[in-house]
Amino acid sequence: MGRVWAMAMQKGGVGKTTTVLSLGTVLAESGRRVLLIDLDPQANLTQGLGVDPALIAYSAYEVLLNPERDPSFATLKTAFGVDLIPSSLDLAGAELELAGKVGRELLLRKALRQVRERYDHILIDPPPSLGIFSLNALAAANHVLVPMQLHAYALQAMPQLEQTIQLVRDIHPSLAIGGIICTLADRRTNLSGQIEQEVRERYGDLVFTTVIPMNVKLAEAPTSGLPITVYAPQSAGALAYKALATELESRYGG
Ligand SMILES: Nc1ncnc2c1ncn2[C@@H]1O[C@H](COP(=O)(O)OP(=O)(O)OP(=O)(O)O)[C@@H](O)[C@H]1O
Ligand SMILES: [Mg+2]
Repeated sequence: MGRVWAMAMQKGGVGKTTTVLSLGTVLAESGRRVLLIDLDPQANLTQGLGVDPALIAYSAYEVLLNPERDPSFATLKTAFGVDLIPSSLDLAGAELELAGKVGRELLLRKALRQVRERYDHILIDPPPSLGIFSLNALAAANHVLVPMQLHAYALQAMPQLEQTIQLVRDIHPSLAIGGIICTLADRRTNLSGQIEQEVRERYGDLVFTTVIPMNVKLAEAPTSGLPITVYAPQSAGALAYKALATELESRYGG
């Protein structure tokens, strides 16, 4: 039975999509069966894997609308060893349509029951706002991964996240925080290190030992539609995500 990981929905640009993309392709490279799900109408994950969201036949939207159907109808095989349920631009209009459905937070969870045995890891990339898509992501997950950008305001995001998790626990009691991932660390500044230390003091073992540095290759890779493992396999960014994948599996079993 595969584990289902959702990135915590947090305000923009903290590295959610980069983490799903990089961690997912690293895990696939080491032989794991991996499914990535793009629930963000911005479709950054889809594009980061070289898939044009304007050209796909089915997206995560159709999966949510037909939760009793095996989601493989909307699953693409990518060139990078991961499967993808892509986002499409109509995902933006879908939120309203889904708002009237009974059990609307549980649609993805229901759909994924049918494919969990085919994967070792399923990673879900939510949009940055709290809404039907991000609630579906959390409700489908066993574990939430929290990216923490190492800047002065990082700690302010945490209480908000805890509130949301409480909300989801009302529907889904076994949801756990899988871990906090420090991202965008800037070794040139003391601030980054100070925030990291504060996060570790406050959250202890919940914080992964691996820290993802700010690395220009990670920012460049998506514009060429290649994951970091292919775009710059020896870059600091690629090596950090490899270390994170190893740490994740040693914590939770392969
Ligand atoms: N470690 C890193 N080093 C350098 N650039 C990074 C790193 N991680 C992410 N980026 C870049 O920062 C920007 C935001 O990252 P990303 O898209 O992963 O964040 P996000 O949380 O998914 O954003 P959104 O909330 O808009 O979905 C992107 O341009 C990405 O390429
Ligand atoms: Mg994103």
